[in-house]
Amino acid sequence: MNQDIFLTMASLSEEIKGTVITSAEQLESFRIRFVGSKNIIKTLFGEIKNVPNERKKEFGLVLNALKEEAESRFELEKERLDASADQGRNHDLDLTAPVYYDSIGSRHPVSIVMNRIIRIFERIGFTVAEEREIENDWYNFTAMNTPEDHPARDMQDTFYLKDSTVDLLRTHTSSVQARIMTTQKPPIRIIAPGRVYRNETISSRSHCQFHQVEGLYIDKKVSFADMKQTLLYFAREMYGPQTEIRLRPSYFPFTEPSAEMDVYWGLKNEDDYRITKGTGWLEILGCGMVDPNVLSNCGIDPEEYTGFAFGMGIERQAMLQYKVTDIRQFFENDIRFLKQFSGAL
Ligand code: DAH
Repeated sequence: MNQDIFLTMASLSEEIKGTVITSAEQLESFRIRFVGSKNIIKTLFGEIKNVPNERKKEFGLVLNALKEEAESRFELEKERLDASADQGRNHDLDLTAPVYYDSIGSRHPVSIVMNRIIRIFERIGFTVAEEREIENDWYNFTAMNTPEDHPARDMQDTFYLKDSTVDLLRTHTSSVQARIMTTQKPPIRIIAPGRVYRNETISSRSHCQFHQVEGLYIDKKVSFADMKQTLLYFAREMYGPQTEIRLRPSYFPFTEPSAEMDVYWGLKNEDDYRITKGTGWLEILGCGMVDPNVLSNCGIDPEEYTGFAFGMGIERQAMLQYKVTDIRQFFENDIRFLKQFSGAL
């Protein structure tokens, strides 16, 4: 019997060393058998009464050693399992790594120039109106005094939507004028920035998509002088306080009279000769007094109200400002090109 108990303890010791523990379940079985409140080692303590006196001491020492062995194996395996569970969860979390700053993108040069133009006009009370890029014939052309088979429709080659003769991609932001005039009552003072489309051959100087900012001001007694002063203010904010402008008579179906505005760019170097074709003047926008036909097409009484409108392209101004020589660069999403504008608003 005594011999048996010592043998049992020896084989339990082997078991404590040899038990495979790689999962929480295995650890729990081990705990119940060797460490828990009713563990097997505890029950052996009751056997001390059957051990002869001269071996009681030895028995106690061996049993205590067994108890410690079980407890320390349990603690060790528990720590190991906890650690590997932790690692599984956070294997890519390195608390000592330096803080990682997500690099923020840069604004597109077209947006930068567009935002500048918007801010200039907002300062004198214009509000931004944005409208759809897929338009119909009426808002893009007819309402703007360009009825079907009017030769002026040829000025802007149009993308029509598949199987449609009326739905199109707007060819200019002037369509926003009609959208606003048919839904709002004067006084109206808006600018409409946005993308426009024309069926043109793509080259370094022209593209089938580009951006415009449209302006429209309608109220009682709005005059050509109001328009001129507004545009002079714009030119000086945009190109510097000394900037000179000139208005040349022109033709647009939706304005009468119509004009084109140039700013004096100067002839300081060879580039200036090239971009101003030797004149020193740069054409920036088209403008004019809103044609009475446009007002009445849109339900505004031309006897009571007058107004002026203007429209300008953005890409050309961005090309001048940033010395970009190929308009296609604005649409190629080449990160090396775009990154150069980081930091600008
Ligand atoms: N819509 C014209 C274009 O795309 C530009 C323009 C000219 C707009 C005169 C206007 C305007 O509002 O009055 O070429």
